[in-house]
Amino acid sequence: MRRTVRFLLNDRQFSLEGFDPTLTLLDWLRNERRLIGTKEGCAEGDCGACTVLIGRLRDGELRYEAINACIRFLASLDACHIVTVEHLKKASGGLHPVQQAMVELHGSQCGFCTPGIVMSLTALWLGAAEAPSRERVEEALAGNLCRCTGYGPIISALDRAYEIEASSSDTLNLGRAEIARTLAGLADQEVIEISEGGRKLFAPATADQLAELTAAHPDATLVAGATDVGLWITKMLLRPATVITLGRVGELDRIEDKGDHLVIGALVSVSDARGALGALDPQIDELIRRFGSEQVRNAGTIGGNVANGSPIGDSPPVLIALGASVILRRGGERRTVPLEQFFIAYKKQDRQPGDFVEALIVPKPKPGTLFHVSKISKRFDEDISAVCAAFRLERDGAGLTTHAVLAFGGMAATPKRAAAAEAALAGRSFNAEAAEAAALALASDFKPLDDWRASARYRSTVAANLIRRFQAETATGSVHRVAGILRSDAHA
Ligand SMILES: Cc1cc2nc3c(=O)[nH]c(=O)nc-3n(C[C@H](O)[C@H](O)[C@H](O)COP(=O)(O)OP(=O)(O)OC[C@H]3O[C@@H](n4cnc5c(N)ncnc54)[C@H](O)[C@@H]3O)c2cc1C
Ligand code: FES
Ligand code: FES
Repeated sequence: MRRTVRFLLNDRQFSLEGFDPTLTLLDWLRNERRLIGTKEGCAEGDCGACTVLIGRLRDGELRYEAINACIRFLASLDACHIVTVEHLKKASGGLHPVQQAMVELHGSQCGFCTPGIVMSLTALWLGAAEAPSRERVEEALAGNLCRCTGYGPIISALDRAYEIEASSSDTLNLGRAEIARTLAGLADQEVIEISEGGRKLFAPATADQLAELTAAHPDATLVAGATDVGLWITKMLLRPATVITLGRVGELDRIEDKGDHLVIGALVSVSDARGALGALDPQIDELIRRFGSEQVRNAGTIGGNVANGSPIGDSPPVLIALGASVILRRGGERRTVPLEQFFIAYKKQDRQPGDFVEALIVPKPKPGTLFHVSKISKRFDEDISAVCAAFRLERDGAGLTTHAVLAFGGMAATPKRAAAAEAALAGRSFNAEAAEAAALALASDFKPLDDWRASARYRSTVAANLIRRFQAETATGSVHRVAGILRSDAHA
């Protein structure tokens, strides 16, 4: 057992013990280190003003990613390199090329969002030798809200940064080998325990340690990326007595391709899952691109999205449509539950105290399968779904539907299949009449909620239209994606 969390902050090593287990990285940086370049805008992962870089060793390689410091627990950052905007300053005292480019192109007015934007652009800069496409830059900035400048100059600033200096000569890139060595030296296999005032946080390093800890503390709050749990602390002001953070358990951070299915570890981030899941269907890729922001996807995990059990989580409908199962572990015991049976009632899952989600088994669609995914939200980027739908249709040689899965989020208290609509498609061609029958049958499947995100009437109408869209898309072979926007979202 180790009672310290050890990490690098910029160019200084820290070893901390005895602090609030749910202290956020942002509060520590600003209140205790007085590194106030990192701003607090919303304290809920939305605005990006608090963006910092986290460097971690993944399979021996050092990777820097942008995350939101406001909802990340300091205690979860063992063996990481935390980089704040203060660290970008050149040894000569001059500006970093990304900052210099922002100045030259007038990418800042009031300046409140600017450090966060600089950090998001720097994450791109560090990872690519050449300027990324405009679409990629827009994607990376979707989680940085600027209220006064307008995004044109900000987006152009990255191109200009590459003209000012090659990213290969960035100090962080030049120092990679040394930082990687330091982080490797900080990592070990000890369970970390941080406690203060009777509250405790455990950070196991292996899946077996995690299993032991969850069995010994069945009421503990499990934390993966904290993109949900972080808000329980900053917005609901909860102070869980015992927290177990999963971030060090590398065994759960793996994707295995088993030929006809994928096994995705619970700790795989949404960003990392995008490659494997997005490869199954371009609309899945598009859905994941619209999942939160880059910062949220870098921290948030697929396991957390499933375990959280939100009726408007984006991965459950897709995973249900693909026929996924969840592997739950308690102590040494494992059980596999079809995902559609995992969600029992509002925020109630088939998860007993002491269980944790170990992995997801995701079958790949068979050749010839028809597949469709749509996310309907008020804003295109960084918004939670009002309705999320994923459909899978298998057909026989005559083109008749042999198996239909129509899975919806936002239509009931849990992510749920539409049994009556599926039955309306069975055994017939998937033509406009069949789609219409299924769209009408939806009324007996769901009585959706009215809330501020969408009215029940809107949800019902849009869900039926998505089935019609699926059929139209199938009939015309259209892809719907136009300049990064799913064109028919506007008409769904
Ligand atoms: C700004 C913002 C935008 C967002 N946008 C979206 C969006 O577009 N779509 C969407 O679906 N979600 C969105 N979310 C919600 C969140 O990012 C996702 O639900 C994410 O997948 C949660 O993963 P996590 O690792 O951060 O989970 P955490 O916050 O760490 O945990 C979430 C829940 O799962 C439990 N848990 C985590 N891992 C395990 C495990 N292995 N076993 C058992 N229990 C576990 C925790 O105890 C907790 O109850 C957004 C969040 C923010 C802050
Ligand atoms: S302060 Fe707004 S995302 Fe962190
Ligand atoms: S410069 Fe003012 S919020 Fe972006």
